[in-house]
Amino acid sequence: MPRKLAAGNWKMNGLAADLAQIDALLRDHMPSTAEVLICPPATLIAAMAARAHGTALQVGAQDCHTAATGAHTGDIAAPMLADAGASHVILGHSERRADHGEGSALVAAKARAAHTAGLVALICIGETEAQRDAGQTLAVVTEQLRESLPEAATAASTVIAYEPVWAIGTGRTPSIEQIAEVHDTLRAALPDPEIALLYGGSVKPSNAAEIFAIGNVDGALVGGASLKAADFGAIIAALDASR
Ligand code: 13P
Repeated sequence: MPRKLAAGNWKMNGLAADLAQIDALLRDHMPSTAEVLICPPATLIAAMAARAHGTALQVGAQDCHTAATGAHTGDIAAPMLADAGASHVILGHSERRADHGEGSALVAAKARAAHTAGLVALICIGETEAQRDAGQTLAVVTEQLRESLPEAATAASTVIAYEPVWAIGTGRTPSIEQIAEVHDTLRAALPDPEIALLYGGSVKPSNAAEIFAIGNVDGALVGGASLKAADFGAIIAALDASR
């Protein structure tokens, strides 16, 4: 059975003062039987990793370049993230696919770079509302999975997050049946069935338990509700209590 993972994506939120949330998370909500990961903005990775040193909290990044070094002003390479203390990197988030035109082939190249640097690639896929309305959800996510996943991906190197674009930051979530349908389809399409499959999109303390009760949901990728230790802690507790 895949390992359970509660992952927080802070997106473009967080100043040094917000590291107090990490102290509260470690003090009040850990350790946990599930793996726990926070992906802060790159500016906070090293400081957060220092806070998390010697604990079970893992720290990740939100993107990386395909190259290990070079003339790429403003970009960050995977070995730099590892050097700063990151263990994971989110790749192909729908906000990067939309804001920066990132396609699945680029996401796969970034995942290969992440793997080479020893990072776990947390690859995001998900349909838009128009695609769901057109009945294309399973075809879209299956194609994104196939094109975004490097050939050599294993459970040790890779995590997949299913994040319907229309559920991100909206307070709307798919039905239990809709999440189950996608996760069952993705599980069958994975090269390694032990790869963890996260659900993401408006996960909150109030809906976490019912989402974690779905077969083939191994955890969550949480945006807004990961910013406060109490909310994220409640989601971690719900994951611990599941299965
Ligand atoms: P929200 O939990 O804020 O909807 O964001 C989900 C997400 O995009 C996590 O990567």
